[in-house]
Amino acid sequence: MDNSDNAFQQDSRQKDSLVTNTVQAIRWHEDKLELLDQRILPHQIEYILLTNAKDTARAITDMVVRGAPAIGITAAYGVAIAARNNEDLEIAYQQLAESRPTAVNLFWALERMRKVSSQTYPDLIAEAIAIHQEDIQANIKMGQLGAGLIADNSQIYTHCNAGALATGGYGTALGVIRAAFGDNKLTQVYAGETRPWLQGARLTAWELMADSIPVKLCAEGAAAQLFRQGQIDWLVVGADRIAANGDVANKVGTYGLALLAKHHGIKVMIAAPTSTIDMQTASGEDIDIEQRHSSELTHHKGQAIAPEGCEAINPAFDITPADLIDVIATEKGLILQPSHETVAMLMSR
Ligand code: MRU
Repeated sequence: MDNSDNAFQQDSRQKDSLVTNTVQAIRWHEDKLELLDQRILPHQIEYILLTNAKDTARAITDMVVRGAPAIGITAAYGVAIAARNNEDLEIAYQQLAESRPTAVNLFWALERMRKVSSQTYPDLIAEAIAIHQEDIQANIKMGQLGAGLIADNSQIYTHCNAGALATGGYGTALGVIRAAFGDNKLTQVYAGETRPWLQGARLTAWELMADSIPVKLCAEGAAAQLFRQGQIDWLVVGADRIAANGDVANKVGTYGLALLAKHHGIKVMIAAPTSTIDMQTASGEDIDIEQRHSSELTHHKGQAIAPEGCEAINPAFDITPADLIDVIATEKGLILQPSHETVAMLMSR
């Protein structure tokens, strides 16, 4: 709708441009919700205006906006917009809850919105803005904590996009990377391209290049050899849902990378806000993994790339067991050697 190359927020009150100048996936601007259309990045920068709950839910399903925290924030704004429109709020909550199943931040945000006692527009929009702002602050905090574990001259591999685009701003895994880069600890970041949506190639590479953080793209199939060469120090990724025992659902491919990391002595960090930790879900086996349409694999931009009629499986996420993870970095602190006990301890803080 609105063509704009001003996708980067400017905040003159703060000096650190790495903190304040990250791309804005979600804009609440003059009482309007605008989403940066992530399907056409990095070559087209276009914001889409959302005016009701149904279209907001559709934008989440269709990947206009994606990434666990960003999905939750968007849904919160969707509820507020529905209240302003005098939509049936029960239907609005339901439409938004059905938009994608795996990222628990969606349900966490909707639950927070439900707890707003008046359910009127002024109170709901204030809560949505608070959820958005708190997410940015959480990312900055977990970025500092995670970066504290990174040694000088480190090389990091990341998967998918857990950056400003996937959150309210700054990013989770990319927040750690931004903070470590700010501390002059990074010599190289590798971004796995992340098929089929190519979040690594289209989004992570774009975000990091905008911050002049040295990034090289890596085909998924090249990761094993890269890990074997012994130059990677950390695998740092985000999460869509963390179960009470520390198992992590994240972009499909994360499990394979964590296994590779374990085999090659590379440390694994999950960076996620506590809104991604789901104490109601006992283990990874209980997490609903989204299955997306097979055409995302068999076609590219509407063009067939597989034989006609070819079947495909397309799970959007996989589960990395807690015992493959060295640390979960959250805004409340670090969970070293995640387990039921260590996760519960952090959540009780
Ligand atoms: O399908 P997507 O692009 O929504 O998947 C995103 C991821 O898997 C991210 O790693 C996760 O949501 C963390 S975002 C801070």
